[in-house]
Order: sequence, then C-alpha cells, then structure tokens
Amino acid sequence: MSDREEWGSRFGLILAMAGNAIGLGNFLRFPVQAAQNGGGAFMIPYFVAFILLAIPLMWVEWSIGRNGGKFSHGSLPGMFDVLWKHPIAKYMGAIGLFISTIIMIYYTVIVSWMLGFSFFSITGSYSGIENITSMGTYLTEFQSGGDQFFTSMWPAYIFLLLTVALNFYILSKGISGGIEMFAKIALPLLFIFAVFLAGYVLMLGTPDPVNFPERSVWHGLAFIWNPNFEYLGNSKIWLAAAGQVFFTLSVGMGTLQAYASYLKPKDDIALSGLTTASINEFAEVVLGGTIAIPIAVAFFGLMETQAIADGGTFNLGIVSMGVIFNQMEYGQFFGFMWFFLLFFAGVTSSVAMAQPLISFLKEQFNFDHRKATLVVGGIILVAVHFVFVYLQYGFLDEMDYWAGTFLLVVISLIEVIIFGWIFGIDKGWDELNRGSDIKIPKIFKFIIKYVTPVYLIFILIFWTIDDAIPTLLMSKAKPENIPYMWGSRIFMITLMIGLWLMVRVAWKRKKEKEVS
Ligand code: ALA
Repeated sequence: MSDREEWGSRFGLILAMAGNAIGLGNFLRFPVQAAQNGGGAFMIPYFVAFILLAIPLMWVEWSIGRNGGKFSHGSLPGMFDVLWKHPIAKYMGAIGLFISTIIMIYYTVIVSWMLGFSFFSITGSYSGIENITSMGTYLTEFQSGGDQFFTSMWPAYIFLLLTVALNFYILSKGISGGIEMFAKIALPLLFIFAVFLAGYVLMLGTPDPVNFPERSVWHGLAFIWNPNFEYLGNSKIWLAAAGQVFFTLSVGMGTLQAYASYLKPKDDIALSGLTTASINEFAEVVLGGTIAIPIAVAFFGLMETQAIADGGTFNLGIVSMGVIFNQMEYGQFFGFMWFFLLFFAGVTSSVAMAQPLISFLKEQFNFDHRKATLVVGGIILVAVHFVFVYLQYGFLDEMDYWAGTFLLVVISLIEVIIFGWIFGIDKGWDELNRGSDIKIPKIFKFIIKYVTPVYLIFILIFWTIDDAIPTLLMSKAKPENIPYMWGSRIFMITLMIGLWLMVRVAWKRKKEKEVS
C-alpha cells in the first residue's frame, strides 16, 4: 500500500530504539534526581513507575506506532486519527508533535555543550580548575559569556551549529541509512565508554582512606541502593520518579511511535519493546548510577554531593565531573570519554525527536525527504537561537517544564485512554500481541486499561496542584527572567497553534481529495 521506509534489521531497530531512549536523561538527569530525592528512597517509586507506567505505556506506544505505520502515519495526528474516528483526535495528536519538536529544540543546545566539553577535555582547556565554584563559572561563561574563561559565546555557538548539522546530516540519510546506521556506531561505542568508566569508578574505592575514610565509592552506591522507606509518604518523590521514568524512556514524546511506524505489521513489538526498555534501564541505573554519584561521593563526600546535585541538573555531571577529572591521572582522556559518551547518547535521542515532524511533512504535505529534512532543519536552526541567547533567563527551563515534563504525562494519559478505552482494550491487546515473540502476562491487559490511567490521573492532579499552578503563575521566578519566560511561552503557543493549523489544512485537503 505504501513505499514507506523500513528498518534494515531487527538488531538495527533495537539499537535505534535504545539510542532514542538512552540519552542525557540516563547519565545527567538520573543521578541528580536520585541525589535530590534521597537516593534509596527514590528507587522504590522509580521501579513502581517503571512497571506500572513505563512498560505498559511503551507497549501502547509501540502498538500505536506500528498500527499507524500501516496507514502511512509516522506522527501522532494520523496515528490517533486511525484509532479514534473523532475530529478532535488528530488535534490531540498534534500535541505529541509539539512535544517532540520543543524537546528537540532545547535538547540540541544541551547536547552541543557535551561536544564542547569533550573538546575542552582533550585539549586540557579546563585542566587547571580545581574547585566546584570555578568550574561552575567555567560552565556558565561557556554558555553565556563572561570575563574570566570565555569572553564570547562564539565557541558555544560553533559547537551548537556543529551539533545541529550532525543531527540533520543523519536525518537526511533516512531511517535505515541514517538513524539506524548511526545507532550501530554510536551505541556500542557509548556502552564501551560507559562500562569502562563505571569499572574505573568501582576501582577507585576509597581514594584517601587515611584522611577521608567516609569518602568512598561504596558509600555512594549504598546511598542509591539501600532502600529507604521513610520518605515513601512524600508525593514529591513519587512525582520526580515518574517524571524521570518518562523522560529517560522517551515515553510521551511521540518518538517511540514514530520509530515503531517503520516496522512491518507483523513484526514483534512485545519483546523488542521490553528489550529496549531493559537496555535503557541498564544504561541508567547500572551504568548511570555507577558513575556520577559514586565518584562524586568518593571525592567530595555524600553531603557535598547532595549539595552539588541540589545546585542544578548539570552540576553533578558537568561541573563536579570536570573537577574530578582534573584530579585524576589521565583525566583529560577520561573527561573526553565521558563527555563524548554524553554527546553520542544525546544525538541518538535528538534525531528521534525531529523524526515525527519530518514524517508529518512527508506524509501529510507530500514533501520529499530532502525537502522535509531541510524545512525541519531550518525550523530547528532558527529556534535554537532563542534558547541559546536567552538561556540564562530561563527560556530553556520553561520549555523543559511544559514540554519535557508536564505534557509528557498529559499525552500519555490521552493515548492510554484512546488505546484502552476508545479503540478498546481487546482490539488493543490483539494489536500488541500480533507477531509477538513472547507471551505478555495477562495482568498487563488490566494494568493498561485501569492501573496506568488512574496512576496518571493521580500524578496529574498532584502535579498540577503542587507544581504546575505555581510554575504557571511564575511565583518563584526571578523578576528579571519573567519577560523571557513569557517569550518562551509565546514561542511555544505559536508553535502549537501553527501545528494545529497545519493539521487542519492537511485533513481538509485529504477530504477534498476523497470527494473529487
Ligand atoms: N530519553 C532521552 C533521554 O534520556 C530523551 O535523554
């Protein structure tokens, strides 16, 4: 029925899907979330959210994606439209398109810092910095300019342009020739680097047993792994855990669905989905959990590590790691490995975020691949400038909150209701199991229909009250940031309206074509 692209091999698909999921979330965001939310206390809600939210939603997303692919849909507007014959379905799907595009915009900026830092590591340009404060200044001056380490933003700008160019070079080569090919190189390399670094951290043990016996890798690991039931009544930890699980597995972004749409109708999704989720969790809790926190505890102690993590998302993975590399033998080399690993992890995720919009333009507006890639590349190129220039005023944080945190849960709730209730759980269950290489326990049919939606509704209610309303009202924002945060919101609203209009035009045209 269609001449859509397909994945070259199952192995390639799994690597691409794992690459989609494994990103900065695993190595930068996870350690910070774990440290900020009590270590072992965080891991219990984390695993509960993994089983009751992430696994079912991931299966739902793979099913929606593969089903959409049968009708030549690689993005959520079309995918929802074929499941739910209601005029509003496609507009709800456009929210998914919005999420992936916004995350792509700010994520690319962050990924470009990793490229910059891998370059600075190997060239030794921060090798004289010995404390967290100076390293923090180095990072902020790199991002926004200053007078001590970076007098201009040009270096950051060049790394940004290189990162955007690499993304769209990969995307221009298509699903199998670009994304799959790159994943086949990047993922094995990323794993080799990560296993090597994790092994190195474990061998560090207690670097200074005489003066600081409590500063040890084992204390760091114990902090993450000793379950702590004391904080389980704290809703904040449950929300943070759910947010992390969503972000790390790329659930609620529309990207898993986009990749799954390039499967054949009877390709297995149950086992492939579970495999990629498991690879992601291995990369996150085993590798991600063994690097940044234990090494920081070994060098700075637990209290200080928690204080560093409280200072922001990038403090543990960039600032403290930079200082630690400077104290290590062959630190330049290890620093390069760490930041390059992050760069590769980031790019295999960011290409996935551009894919839904590319598919949308190709399928709904008949763009050829080249034109669609160029248009999306052009949009992203323009948009990253706003994030880049207004970074210090919270432009990025606003996008990360609404698109990268809150809306992930909203779209997940919409899709699980469409799948389990409107399309119907019986049809949905058949769809999920078609061509399956494993037998999914029947309990998941019940979980998808009842448990996941109820869990999501609870999260949304708590989140809205605790967090979304104060954030919406900017009650904690610095006054000087408020105009820029509004700028970020106006930008997002404009994109959302633009996407809704495009959906409207595309469906109108389709209707006219059917009539004539
Ligand atoms: N899942 C991607 C990450 O973890 C977005 O960074």
